[in-house]
Amino acid sequence: MAVLANLMVVVIAVVGVTSLPSLPLPSSPTLAQDSEVSPSQLLKAFGLSEPGVRHWHSEPPQYMLDLYNEVADANGLTRVPGPYGATIVRSFSEKGKQQHRPPSGGGRRVPRSVDVNTLPRGCQRRDMHVNFEAIGWSSWILYPQVYNAYQCQGQCAFPLIQSVNPTNHATVQSFIHHVGKAPGVQTPCCVPSLYGNLTLLFYDSEENVVLKQYDQMVALQCGCH
Ligand SMILES: *[C@@H]1O[C@H](CO)[C@@H](O)[C@H](O)[C@H]1NC(C)=O
Repeated sequence: MAVLANLMVVVIAVVGVTSLPSLPLPSSPTLAQDSEVSPSQLLKAFGLSEPGVRHWHSEPPQYMLDLYNEVADANGLTRVPGPYGATIVRSFSEKGKQQHRPPSGGGRRVPRSVDVNTLPRGCQRRDMHVNFEAIGWSSWILYPQVYNAYQCQGQCAFPLIQSVNPTNHATVQSFIHHVGKAPGVQTPCCVPSLYGNLTLLFYDSEENVVLKQYDQMVALQCGCH
């Protein structure tokens, strides 16, 4: 009995040791993990508490597609405010059949990328594509499936030039930083200085088709602030 108990201990110890290297190593997040973790936070950015629902048979009403085309471009960028200045238009779900046609006016177009041949040093606008398919929302977000939110990248080096749209405050800060007499004063930051709104057409969690405008979702211009 004692021998068996000792044997058990040894076996457990050996298993414990040999199984260590086979333990899964911490790895970079996979898409599967991402689609469970980050979208819940991303949902908040889109003002939603839960993902939308679209049943396989349902097609959005044509007038909602037309409305989307009227309000937004192929990239989802809001061109004109919604009807009567509304930022949300909801069409309550109908169980009847609807004819589905893709939005006219080009539909899904690959967004033109920003010129990447310019010097990477200075503050400038770069692409940042938000892909609802990669996020796992493509079943209920109708349009756009991908949009370019852009990002601001690069340094705000002294002296700030006009093309980086510096504020007066940034110009002074840049100077103080450059002179270096005040430790802890950083260079100004390269951030969006002008935003565009985004319009989405999607199914909400109650299967209503919703056209909703989101303010300040697209960086139209970058600057040193
Ligand atoms: C975005 O929408 C707001 C109102 O929701 C409006 O005041 C603003 O002018 C819009 N921005 C652009 C760039 O159209």
